[in-house]
Amino acid sequence: MACQQIRDGVHSVGAADWDRRLFDLLLPTPDGTSYNAFLVKGSERTALIDTVEPSKAGELLANLASLGVERIDYIIANHAEQDHSGSVPAVLGRFPGALVVCNKACMGFLRDLFLLPEERFRTVEDGESLSLGGKTLRFIFAPWVHWPETMLTYLVEDRILFSCDLFGSHLATNCLYSDGEENVYQDAKRYYAEIMAPFRRFVAKHLATVERLDIDIIAPSHGPLHSHPLPILDAYRKWSSDEVENTVLICYATMHGTTREMARHLAARLTERAIKVVMVDLERTDPGKLTMALLDAATIVIGSPTVLAGPHPHVVYACALIDALKPKARQAAVIGSFSWGGQMAEKVKRSLGQLQAEFLETVLVKSHAPSQMYPPLDRLADEIARRHHEQGLFG
Ligand code: FEO
Repeated sequence: MACQQIRDGVHSVGAADWDRRLFDLLLPTPDGTSYNAFLVKGSERTALIDTVEPSKAGELLANLASLGVERIDYIIANHAEQDHSGSVPAVLGRFPGALVVCNKACMGFLRDLFLLPEERFRTVEDGESLSLGGKTLRFIFAPWVHWPETMLTYLVEDRILFSCDLFGSHLATNCLYSDGEENVYQDAKRYYAEIMAPFRRFVAKHLATVERLDIDIIAPSHGPLHSHPLPILDAYRKWSSDEVENTVLICYATMHGTTREMARHLAARLTERAIKVVMVDLERTDPGKLTMALLDAATIVIGSPTVLAGPHPHVVYACALIDALKPKARQAAVIGSFSWGGQMAEKVKRSLGQLQAEFLETVLVKSHAPSQMYPPLDRLADEIARRHHEQGLFG
């Protein structure tokens, strides 16, 4: 991606990754992603804020060359994860006089990753400022959005917040700003759901700090920048709150069709009760859709056939994701089928140890017995509707 000017002396110099379709060998990125890095030139010093994934180091260096950059004094490392720090060695190789500016925790990570000597670092404290001459960088520690060492960098004179992972989205685009990007909030939501959701208490805490700043532009290190910060701040406020919607997420796998029939029957009964249903067939739906639905759902229903006395492997994987992402659902239920026994439901519940939701009555069907299927599912729909009413979710 070519350099783009943000303000006088401030350029975006990172790289788009149009082809990336999987992050962390786990989460689909259907629209690619970007690794944003920013050059800030003061009258006396020049700083590079974050770098890029190692495979894109050449693009970053070419962008710096195209701007005629001959000296970098500081490489600001907001976050040690390699999609942002992975090209630190390449930048240090090209600009041997540069110092890596980061907090002590980040220095620990980077030393271990790149075997850099301590004299290549300058550590900073929370709230400390660094003057570049007419451009002042202020560092704001923001642990756990995404790693414990993560910090944000605020450019005081231009009122730009370089927020690293926070407020990002996995989206490769040559549009500098999110304005006019139709799908940006879907991408931002997917990103939040996959990366930030487990840390929502920290997100809420840091959001309060961010909201006290006078911000013209939020410049995350993935996806487009936000020149109107309010909508993304509002979205983050909602996602990180305890608020849930009148929505039931039904995620299921099916082998011979019984669990699918149960899921669809339950969905129909919930629809009659004016409850929104998000159906996720775990065989076909990408995990990003599942994680997004987890942000809003008041109730999660997990459907599985019984395979060798336990849940289907697709369900095992979904449960691992759900447990790790700690959704704010208030109730959950297990539905499914078996032929000759097993402990599918118990194993599903045990795998969701971090889920704080209360489990409702399980609905298990032997083979395809209608009497074990439809009346209990109708009762489950009634109970979910009753609880959603009680929780004031019908508006
Ligand atoms: Fe985009 Fe936590 O790295």
